[in-house]
Amino acid sequence: MPRTPVRSRPATVYACSECGAQAPKWLGRCPECGTWSSLVEEVPGAGATGPDHAVVVPLVEVDPVGASGRRTGVPELDRVLGGGLVPGSVTLLGGEPGIGKSTLLLQALGRMAAGGARCLLVSAEESVEQVRLRAERLGALDPRLLVVSETSLPSIATSVRETAPDVLAVDSIQTVCEPEVAGAPGSVAQVREGAHRLVRLAKDRSMATVLVGHVTKDGSLAGPRALEHVVDTVLAFEGDRHHALRTLHALKHRFGPTDELGVFEMTDDGLGQVADPSALFLADRCHGLPGSVVTATMEGVRPLLVEVQALVADTRSPVPRRSARGLDGSRLEMLLAVLAARADLAVGSVDVYASAAGGLRVRDAGADLALAIAVASARCGVAVPEGLVAVGEVGLGGELRQAPQIVRRLGEAARLGFAAAIVAPSTPAVDGLRLLRAEHIGDVLGALDLDGDRTVHAARA
Ligand code: TYD
Ligand code: MG
Repeated sequence: MPRTPVRSRPATVYACSECGAQAPKWLGRCPECGTWSSLVEEVPGAGATGPDHAVVVPLVEVDPVGASGRRTGVPELDRVLGGGLVPGSVTLLGGEPGIGKSTLLLQALGRMAAGGARCLLVSAEESVEQVRLRAERLGALDPRLLVVSETSLPSIATSVRETAPDVLAVDSIQTVCEPEVAGAPGSVAQVREGAHRLVRLAKDRSMATVLVGHVTKDGSLAGPRALEHVVDTVLAFEGDRHHALRTLHALKHRFGPTDELGVFEMTDDGLGQVADPSALFLADRCHGLPGSVVTATMEGVRPLLVEVQALVADTRSPVPRRSARGLDGSRLEMLLAVLAARADLAVGSVDVYASAAGGLRVRDAGADLALAIAVASARCGVAVPEGLVAVGEVGLGGELRQAPQIVRRLGEAARLGFAAAIVAPSTPAVDGLRLLRAEHIGDVLGALDLDGDRTVHAARA
């Protein structure tokens, strides 16, 4: 029998203004983070965006959004955005302090202003003089680029009403504050409230909005994760502060795919375009080193060559270490199990470190084969021949499978002067590259002379 749903009023909840933890009643001390007097009442329904009564319309009469994004004029940013900034959308640009968020933002605003858009930069961290100096250096000065150094949300809203910009940028969301809300700037309550108000402002005025957000070392947004659900697009700007290379990708994107990668180089004149990303990622490679294998991965529609590295070290620990930097840790665990079970490689009791060189994050099963070969190469202390790439997925049986868009990947390898590729049996021929088709990971290790450890393994068994 169908049950009648019981309607109840949403219960009041209390949320910690420091860590965001929720409690059904007020407490003097947050049970999660231990902060005193940090719990504040949350009004049910508050923070919901848009009007109370939405208008019902036939779906065919709805204008598709996303079709007409405003180009930022920074090609790599437009690539990640799938065109540009959509009017009324809110984009969160996240990254560690010092990575170049303000620089990227100012360059984009300068170009959009030069293209005729009215842009307002709310600089809550730097003075207008500092912004002017930087804009001069970046060639981003334009009469249509307006700037205000302000942290109070009501004042920001007033500036927006007075200047009616096409594009609003707030640098950063952690430094703006709403005087009516408890908590210091940067606290969960403040960041959340600030984001909600700015989202409402963006939607009401159909104004493309970019919010800068600082993230901590572990990659999470300082402030509530809830912020990611409030905005339309979340961009992650990453890289090593001490190297020039920067990458940009979308963690969430309501108006397009999230698999495009933007590649930048930080120079004295700001963030520059990288003409040949594959060449850059391979530039500092050590040749003839055991544990190093090049693979061709796909970042969106762009093939990219990247070096996969592995290091194997003896350990006395009963629980050996597995570390994956820029690679999927669970994928590494799986490949080690496959190498041990299907190719008789003794990797069960050694520490294994794996990394994608150049600070790139590879989330592509097509890199399996390269990673497996790199581990075997490190284990045996035998380098793989020069001019060789490896592309393919490795199954639990040790079988090789073709990676998606294999022809584009291999084309990129041929373009960069690679002579041969180890691939799955079904891989079609590619001009300029000799294909070594293999069915099983064991065959690959045998062909590359990387199965020298079998005897050690057998002796131990
Ligand atoms: P910034 O954009 O201020 O970083 P964020 O806003 O993410 O904190 O950039 C920080 C670094 O970039 C700073 O250490 C100096 C460097 N930089 C350049 O190398 N070239 C430039 O043209 C600019 C503007 C900055
Ligand atoms: Mg900054």
